[in-house]
Parts: sequence; structure tokens; C-alpha cells
Amino acid sequence: MESLHLISLLVLVLLVINVLVFPVFGQGAIKTGFYSASCPKAESIVRSAVEAHFNKDSTIAAALLRLHFHDCFVQGCDASILIDAPSAEREAVPNTGLRGFEVIDDAKSQLEVSCPGVVSCADILALAARDSVDLSGGPSWGVPTGRRDGRISSLSEAASLPSPLDSVAAQRQKFAAKGLDDHDLVTLVGAHTIGQTDCLFFQYRLYNFTKTGNSDPSINQVFLTQLQTLCPKNGDASKRVALDKDSQLNFDSSFFKNVRDGNGILESDQRLWGDSKTRRIVDNYAGNIKGLFGVRFNFEFPKAMIKMSSIDVKTGTQGEIRKICSKFN
Ligand code: HEM
Ligand SMILES: *[C@@H]1O[C@H](CO)[C@@H](O)[C@H](O)[C@H]1NC(C)=O
Repeated sequence: MESLHLISLLVLVLLVINVLVFPVFGQGAIKTGFYSASCPKAESIVRSAVEAHFNKDSTIAAALLRLHFHDCFVQGCDASILIDAPSAEREAVPNTGLRGFEVIDDAKSQLEVSCPGVVSCADILALAARDSVDLSGGPSWGVPTGRRDGRISSLSEAASLPSPLDSVAAQRQKFAAKGLDDHDLVTLVGAHTIGQTDCLFFQYRLYNFTKTGNSDPSINQVFLTQLQTLCPKNGDASKRVALDKDSQLNFDSSFFKNVRDGNGILESDQRLWGDSKTRRIVDNYAGNIKGLFGVRFNFEFPKAMIKMSSIDVKTGTQGEIRKICSKFN
């Protein structure tokens, strides 16, 4: 009897210490199948919404993957990117060209019919990113869920997003600030195996980049003439160009071969070949080992995505579950 009391006292003391030292434990972590009891169809509803849009326009997959990345890098993965208001995050310069909001709204309205007030917009973004990669022929993975939606969305905080003009040092620093290392950086930027960019973001590399009249010397000469045709000097800066010249709709590792060969489009992507540490990772994915080409990237990408999808997530009683993804409750 006496020892039983002692044990319960000990357990109580340990619990108190736990709450004091690790307050985050009180909020719980995200886990796969979070909605299996509260909304069993959650993941299949998101999947069918993404699929319906993808079947009409397969470029939507790239848009949804980028949307999740931009959400996670500002205020954590909390759907702050979806708020539609004058000085919200979405209005910041690095977020120009973001697309796919209608897909998230579509999934959300279907979820509100099946299980009102249960599934967060932040989780819809994470699930839609996974489904987009899968639909594009890339790997699939179990997405930990249970994120809550944030109550803050501010234009000024978007400065934590990387710029296409960033050096490797700057990219490294911005990823490290989110707990992501060089391996995660290179792996995640591999997302540029799908999607497009405006000429605006790289045109300056094609003409007088050196200030002595020359283009960026790291661009492959054959590719340079092609890019100059796609984005003429005083042409339309909003023209779209594939980030992976070989297969912009397929999620594969050809993007890394392009970076290796001087066929990267964004300066930030091409710089990954100029730094000895990131170069080694790019080279690995580019596939020097015949027969194993592409396999490693497909294996590493899901792991890096799960890490990115966990940045500063709100759980438990933090934040809210929005009724409409573009508005706070
Ligand atoms: C150093 C890091 C990064 C930089 C500087 C960067 C920059 C950019 C830029 C400038 C564009 C073109 C946007 C446009 O013109 O519409 C773009 C597109 C894209 N980014 Fe990144 N990005 C980075 C990392 C990532 C990561 C980590 C992901 C996802 C995991 C990602 C996914 C995408 C996708 C899928 C597109 C194509 C979007 C579309 O076709 O609509 N990017 N990125
Ligand atoms: C390139 O840029 C430099 C510096 O801005 C300028 O002085 C020069 O005239 C430019 N050259 C060409 C060919 O446009």
C-alpha cells in the first residue's frame, strides 16, 4: 500500500516535470491517420478534389506543391498563406504567381459537408502536396496530420522565403532557420522537377549578367540560345518556362541532371552545382550509377517533405480549424 502511494507520487512528480520542462508535449504531435476516427474519408476527399482539378489541368500539381512550401516557411505549416486580406502573407512579392487556391477551397467545402469543423486547411495543403507528387508520377508517402490553422497572416513575414537570386549561403541559412540541412535543401528544391517560372525570375541571367555584356557563364551554351528565344530581351516577362527542360510534368530526377549540365533555370538552382557540399548531393541524384538512376531521390524526397511539413506546426488547442480556408473564423 505504502509503496503504491510512493509510485503514484513519483508518477505525479514526473508528470509535473514533464509539463514544466517540455510544455510542447501537452499539445501533442502530428501523426498519420489523425482523422481515421473523426473523419475517415478526409484523405480520400482531398485526393478526389486534387485529382478532379489535375485531370483538367495537370500543371496544378506543381502549383499545389509550391503552395505547401510557401505555407510552411512562414509562420509554420498553418495555412497562413491562404488568408485573403489586404496585408496578408499571400500579398507579399515572393508569393506572386502562387496558384491552386481554388483546389484547396474545393476540398474544404466537400470536407465541411462530411465532417464540419474537423479537418484543418493546413492539413489539406500537406495532403494535396503529397497527392500532387503522386499524380505526377513521383513517390507517395503517409502524411502526418493533426495541424491546426493559424490566426496570423502577415505580408511582412514572407521575407523568410528564399529568393531565386539567393546564393547557396543564403539558401542554406534560410533552410537552417527552419531546421533543414543541406541534404533537405537540395532534396526539396528537387520539387522543381515539375512546374514553371516566369521569364521575370531568370531573364537577367541571359543578358548582360556580368555587366560587361555577357550572360551568366554557368549556363550551358546550347541551352542559352534556347532560353534567349523563349525569353527575348525586351519580351514578355510573364511568359512561362519549364523549370525542368526535359519533363516538366513528370516528377523524376532529370532536374538534377540539368543542374549538373548547366541547364538549371533559376540562378538559385544552378548555384547548387557551384558549392562543393550541395554539388555532391546534386551529383548523387543526377545518377552516376547506371540502373539506380532516380531511385534515391524518390526515396529521400518523402522524408524531406515530412520534415518540411512539420515546421512549427500548431496542434492540440493551438490555433483553430477554419470553416473557410481564406478567412479566419
Ligand atoms: C531555394 C529555394 C527555392 C527558391 C529560390 C524557389 C523559387 C521558385 C521560383 C522563383 C519559382 C517560379 C515561380 C513562378 O514564376 O510562378 C518556383 C516555382 C516552383 N517551386 Fe520553388 N523555390 C525554392 C524551393 C522550392 C521548394 C522547397 C519547393 C517544394 C518542396 C518548391 C516548389 C516549386 C514548384 C513546384 C514550382 C512550380 C510552380 C508552378 O508551376 O506553378 N520550390 N520556385
Ligand atoms: C551592361 O551593364 C553595364 C553596367 O550596368 C553597362 O554599363 C553596359 O552598358 C551594359 N552593356 C550592355 C551591352 O547592355
